[in-house]
Amino acid sequence: MTTDLKGQNIVITGSGGGLGEGYAKAAAALGANIVINDINAGNAAKVVDEIRAAGGNAVAEVGNIVDPVFAEALIQRCITEFGSITDLVNNAGVFATEPIWSASLDKLRAALDVNVIGTFNCARSAVGPMMAQKSGNIINITSGAHLGLPEHGNYGASKGAVSSFTYGWAVDLAGSGVRVNCLSPMAFTPMAAHLPHLPPVEVNIPPLLFLLSKRSANLNGQIIRIVDKKLSIMAHPANRAPVLERDQWTLDTVGDAFDETLGALVVPTGIATYEISKVS
Ligand SMILES: NC(=O)c1ccc[n+]([C@@H]2O[C@H](COP(=O)([O-])OP(=O)(O)OC[C@H]3O[C@@H](n4cnc5c(N)ncnc54)[C@H](O)[C@@H]3O)[C@@H](O)[C@H]2O)c1
Repeated sequence: MTTDLKGQNIVITGSGGGLGEGYAKAAAALGANIVINDINAGNAAKVVDEIRAAGGNAVAEVGNIVDPVFAEALIQRCITEFGSITDLVNNAGVFATEPIWSASLDKLRAALDVNVIGTFNCARSAVGPMMAQKSGNIINITSGAHLGLPEHGNYGASKGAVSSFTYGWAVDLAGSGVRVNCLSPMAFTPMAAHLPHLPPVEVNIPPLLFLLSKRSANLNGQIIRIVDKKLSIMAHPANRAPVLERDQWTLDTVGDAFDETLGALVVPTGIATYEISKVS
């Protein structure tokens, strides 16, 4: 069986280059209609031209997703051009790599603006039409940096917010026909131009296509992670069992609880792989 994306009308933010360009070209090749968004007009036009030259269907909507008025216009462009919006890929993002002791507030604000506010703006504009048609699919883009990566605290915090958006919106929208999932990719792109050892864009495309496709129709509130050849699903931050209960806790009974029970449940901070055997 070959799964296609025919009949899907998809907005992909930041798709004038890097991973977004790869997602857009691959989705168009599977029959989807794509709105290419980027702040870089030349790059957006080039991706549209290349998709059309390959027999696909795409239009460009150039602008900054940090502006809520533009984000609304971006979603409306998909509806006027293709008749509806079925999927939104919140891909546009910026990097901010600095340790806390020398981090700049301006870079933190820029990362929060694009990665958090931009993602929010596009999703908020898309959910109205999606809820009205009782179907829709939002894919956010997070990063393993949100689990704790040296010198990535600012960027990681912005992507932590994106992960939390995924959980929160999935819960809000449960039963509405609109699902919200997330991809944690890794690739050598213009954003990561200083990291030539990273995997190529291509390895990130199949999990993104899976999230766009009917094959993931029952998935909601989940983060898929792809690191070159390694595919996994991330655990949600969770309240681990057992939950201890006392009428009143004191410094020493909390200390005893850690010595006797909770201390053994501490998981490493930072990107790690471990098994959670039971969800309760
Ligand atoms: N490259 C990686 O290893 C990696 C790892 C984890 C997560 N990510 C995330 O994947 C996404 C894509 O990253 P990439 O590596 O392709 O980056 P990139 O910089 O190569 O591409 C991002 C694109 O978004 C556009 N853009 C930036 N700000 C915008 C805005 N305000 N409005 C519209 N467009 C805007 C840029 O012009 C650019 O074309 C980002 O959200 C990034 O945080 C990347």
